[in-house]
Amino acid sequence: MDWKNKIKAVIFDLDGVIVDTAKYHYLAWKSLADQLGIPFSERENENLKGISRMDSLNFILSLGDVQYMSQDDKMKLAISKNLHYLELITDLNREDILPGTLEWIQECKDNNIKIALGSASKNARRILESLDLIDQFDVIIDGTNTTKTKPDPQVFELAAKGLGVKASESVVIEDAYKGLEAAKNGGFYSIGIGDPEILNIADINLRSLSDADMNILEKL
Ligand code: BG6
Ligand code: MG
Repeated sequence: MDWKNKIKAVIFDLDGVIVDTAKYHYLAWKSLADQLGIPFSERENENLKGISRMDSLNFILSLGDVQYMSQDDKMKLAISKNLHYLELITDLNREDILPGTLEWIQECKDNNIKIALGSASKNARRILESLDLIDQFDVIIDGTNTTKTKPDPQVFELAAKGLGVKASESVVIEDAYKGLEAAKNGGFYSIGIGDPEILNIADINLRSLSDADMNILEKL
């Protein structure tokens, strides 16, 4: 069946799909882990992709010998990590949009496919503004709208609801394994951006959005 009769919406993840902010998240968490004397490398960082700020902090603390920490102290650490992260992304601009993104957005518009953002980040709107992309989205669902984090499908379900489409008519584009699990759990089609061996639950795998145009959806 022609994909154009099947697909009505594309839901983009933000970090790692539209913009390579994952490296700045890593640097900010790494510096916090160093301060706390907790060993933390890019390998462990893979687990943080797609999950919320507090879940990320709890994961890092679990890697260290931290017996107990009050909610207040955790909050302070999360705030300090975020301030550092925001410093690192101050200069983010249109040139930081990952290859292929603008072409996919344009193709969606040309084919009357609705566009949503489905991100765990509470900084999503600020980042989309820096990239001058905020007006391109019909619906934006981010970490300020959700109560459950990926692999729960809530973020994508809210996006589909906002767009007025069914999960089975929508494609989620994700760089995180947990994000792809969320898509699967919600009954969405998915494209995994990155290493196909890690992202082996995606319906379609691409190294980058620039590796294909929307006709790749014919594979669904
Ligand atoms: C996700 C990232 O998009 O957003 C995670 O993949 C990050 O690494 C999460 O922890 C929350 O982001 P923020 O910007 O609210 O700290
Ligand atoms: Mg991501």
